[in-house]
Parts: sequence; structure tokens; C-alpha cells
Amino acid sequence: MKGYEKYTRQFFEAKPVTMDWRNKTYIDKAPYWCSVDLRDGNQALIIPMSLEEKLEFFKFLVKVGFKEIEIGFPAASETEYDFCRALIEQNLIPDDVTIQVLTQSREHIIAKTFEALKGAKHAIVHLYNSTSVAQREQVFKKDKKEIIDIAVFGAKLCKQYREKTEGHFTFEYSPESFTGTEPEFALEICNAVIDVWQPSENDKVIINLPVTVSHSMPHVYANQVEYMCKNLNNRENLIISLHPHNDRGCAVADSEMGLLAGADRIEGTLFGNGERTGNVDIITLALNMYSQGVDPGLDFSNLPEITEVYERVTRMHVYERQPYSGKLVFAAFSGSHQDAIAKGMKWREEKGTGYWNVPYLPIDPTDVGRVYEADVIRINSQSGKGGIGYLLETQFSMVLPAKMREDFGYHVKSISDHAHKELMPQEVYDILMRDYTNIETPLAVTEAHFVQKDGIKAYVSGEYNGKEFEVSAKGNGRLDAVSNALKAVVGDSYSVEVYTEHALEVSSKSHAASYVGIKSAKNGKLTWGVGIDTDIIVSSVKALVSAINRMKD
Ligand code: KIV
Ligand code: ZN
Repeated sequence: MKGYEKYTRQFFEAKPVTMDWRNKTYIDKAPYWCSVDLRDGNQALIIPMSLEEKLEFFKFLVKVGFKEIEIGFPAASETEYDFCRALIEQNLIPDDVTIQVLTQSREHIIAKTFEALKGAKHAIVHLYNSTSVAQREQVFKKDKKEIIDIAVFGAKLCKQYREKTEGHFTFEYSPESFTGTEPEFALEICNAVIDVWQPSENDKVIINLPVTVSHSMPHVYANQVEYMCKNLNNRENLIISLHPHNDRGCAVADSEMGLLAGADRIEGTLFGNGERTGNVDIITLALNMYSQGVDPGLDFSNLPEITEVYERVTRMHVYERQPYSGKLVFAAFSGSHQDAIAKGMKWREEKGTGYWNVPYLPIDPTDVGRVYEADVIRINSQSGKGGIGYLLETQFSMVLPAKMREDFGYHVKSISDHAHKELMPQEVYDILMRDYTNIETPLAVTEAHFVQKDGIKAYVSGEYNGKEFEVSAKGNGRLDAVSNALKAVVGDSYSVEVYTEHALEVSSKSHAASYVGIKSAKNGKLTWGVGIDTDIIVSSVKALVSAINRMKD
């Protein structure tokens, strides 16, 4: 691909680093979570949320369990200001939830921000300025000292306004575009802010290290985070926060590695909404932890509901393959996957094991409000007998004999292949009913009765190719006797090879389902038929007749 020469690596390696984090293999406790859906997420929407939608979303974020929620940039617009006031004045912020507001380092903006917060019991005031080489040179045209002055100026003002405002306010500082900033300079500017704010045990400061734009592989970011954690002043009174955007598709990896490298807090959004490629998806991060046995402290047990609210208020769409949330992520189309899942489920049921390790399903779909039957088995031309059999058994109580599953599987796959579409469970069932069950042409049995004397004798009447018949024959069971009698009508062209049956509940009436496999005398092929009736004998006769009718030369 042409043009790559114009790109250069824009990241900065932190040195020295020990990479202590690289020997850790999982995150053992949940970080502090901060939702930035209502600020970073909202500012990136084609149509930003209305006040009502923001209020609904705020309440929803609280319900999910967020304790810190960035609600906007109150000095930036009237809507943002009004939203902040509405939350405070309508008493909508639970005591254990802290709102966070963003501000630039300018006096009138800081003043307006504190005005917006009047009456709040507590809040996080989030100060930021851009520190990257690109922004310093191209946007602000300022040197490093001047950029530090901006941050220190804002930090001092925040302190002054905090003293004048009632309430408990925590400070957060972000060297915006941290990943495009030399780590030594990021450290210097953060330390300058920390020196102004003088954090203490009861007044911790949040230092947020945003991947405003992603320039590197995640381990480079982890090293930058580790470098900051090890060299920031007053580390014990700091909360190190991460705010990864997803330009390289690495926001989740950046967050996870950054946590391993010593960070304590994550700012992100539901489904990763946010500027450009979005912020880190907190659902994925949290469920990644959950799937390794760590309680994330957020409740994602009803993802369909969360998806519905999110799609409605943001007018965004959750991608079908979005981890954990997408419509297709608990679906298996491939036959071998379906088979393995069906076997895994059965194994789990039989062994009663507490741990989840079903093949192809990283978590139990029911833990996040999804359903196996509807979600897991998806039927198309790639599907296999295992999945189709499992679907019929779990959703329609039809337990096909193993060999018949194979035959029916091919039949369904070829229909899907020709129609070039996925088949829904009901369509699969309908195919079984239409093509295999109670087939009555050209042969139909209208009556069969039995006399038990020296074995069983069947008296069978019916119609074959439009002509009525009455025949009888003996056999070593009822079905065998009927089969022998029918051979006088259709010819001695087959033998009954498989017969199974089971009870079936059909709309509160008890029925029986029978499955008969007959072998052609000519070519040795098995043909299957299904019978359903309230009478078990009748159902077996119907299955046999269906098989005969389906048999091809
Ligand atoms: O992405 C970013 O850097 C931000 C800052 C304001 C924290 O959103
Ligand atoms: Zn951001």
C-alpha cells in the first residue's frame, strides 16, 4: 500500500521502565469506574442527547452501578449547564454517586463550572490542557514552560474557587493527548499540578493519563503508565486514571495493560461510544474481568436492556459482533461449533460442575441476560447435525435419533444454502413437520387394528395412489406386523432399521412422537419418517408411512 512513508511513529517510549507488570496475567480487582458517556460519549453523537435523554441515561448509569459519572462540560453550553443544575436541583444524585465536570484552564470557564456545581454535596472537577508535541507546536504555539503555566494557572484557580464553594470537591488533572507527549514532560506538568493541589489521604487527586489518540501498541502505553506511577510526586495520595480512545482498536488492551502497570481507575463508556473510534468499552472491560472470576462491581446482567436504552437515547447501533453485547456473539453457525456447544452443555448438566468452560462460549450467556436457545444455535448452510438436533430438542422437545439428525441436518442446510439465508428455529421445525412428518401420499393408512394370537396380526386399511386397500400380516410387534402388511401394497422394497419414540407435550395435550428409519432393498439407503399422534401406536404407523412415502428409488 502506497503512502506509508508519510507516517512516522508518534509515540514516546518511557525510560527507564522495569515492566514489572508484564509478569502479571490477570487483573485481580475491579478499578474505580467513571462513565464519560454523558460528556465524551455525548459530544461525539450525530444528534447529542436532549436534557430528558441525558437524565434518563444518568439514572440508568446509576442503576448499572457507576459511582463516578462525568456529566458534561457545564461552561461549554447552556444545555450542559442546565443538565448539571437539573441533577443538583432535582436532587437526582444519590449520596454514593459523584458527578464529574470538565473544565479548561481559563478563569471564566472555571468560575462558571463552580457556579454550575453550587449545591452539589460532592463532585470531581476535571481540569485539562493539551500537552502533546503536535498541539504545543501547531495549535497553541507555546513552549513547554508556557504549557505548564496554563496547567498551574488552572490548578490554582480551581483551588481558590473550591475554597469559596460549599461542598466536597475532588480534583482531577489530565495532560490531554498524553500519548503524544514526551513522558518526562507529562511527568513534569503533572507534578507541577500536584504541587499546587497538595493531595493528602483525605483529599486525593486523580491524575488521568488519556490515550486521547492512540499511537502505539498497548505495551508502550503500559510502560508510560508505569513510568508515571513510579515517578509522580505523592503517589500514595493519587488515583491514577486511564482514559483510552480506540484509534488502533486497542482501547481494551491499553486499559488492561495500564491497570497491570499500576493504574487504579478507568474512564470509558458503554459500548465504547466516544470521539472517532470511541472510548474504551467499559462493558467489555468489566466482563473480561468477570469471565476470569473477578467481580467488576458493575451490573451487566441484563445486556439486552442496556442495549435498548443505549440505542434509543444515543441513536447509535450496537455492532452485531461487539464483545458480549452484539446480537451474534453468542451465536454459532458452524456445525462443529454447534456440536461442541451442545455436548459441552450436556456435559455440564451431567457433571454438575460449578466452573464454566463450555467450548466456544467464553461466558454463560444467561449471566448477561441472553438465552442459549435463541442465541446460540443459528442455522445456515454451515450448520451441522449437532446444533440442529440440539435446537429441535431444546425448543420443540423433538428428540431425533442420532442418524436421523445427520439426514435432517443435510436437508436443512441445503434449504438454507439454496435460499441463501439463515433459518430461524421455527422455520427448522416447520421443515421437519412439512417434509418428514405425517406424510400421507401416495400411501395413507386410515385404520390399523391388531389381534394378539400366536404373535401379533395387523389388519390395515388405507389408500395407495388413490386406490383403497385392506391387507393383513403377522409380525413380532405391532409396527413389524403393519410393515409386513404394507409390503403387500408397496412391495417388499425396504426393511425397518430404526424405531424410536417419546412422549410429547403439544398445547397441553399429550402426544407421542415416533421416528422410523427404513432401509431400501435396492440401494441400502436409510429414509426417515416422523409420526405425531395422541396414540403412540398410531404415531409409529404414521412414522413408518411417512418414511415409505419419502423413500426414493
Ligand atoms: O480524550 C481525552 O483526552 C479527553 C480529555 C478531556 C480527558 O477526553
Ligand atoms: Zn476522551
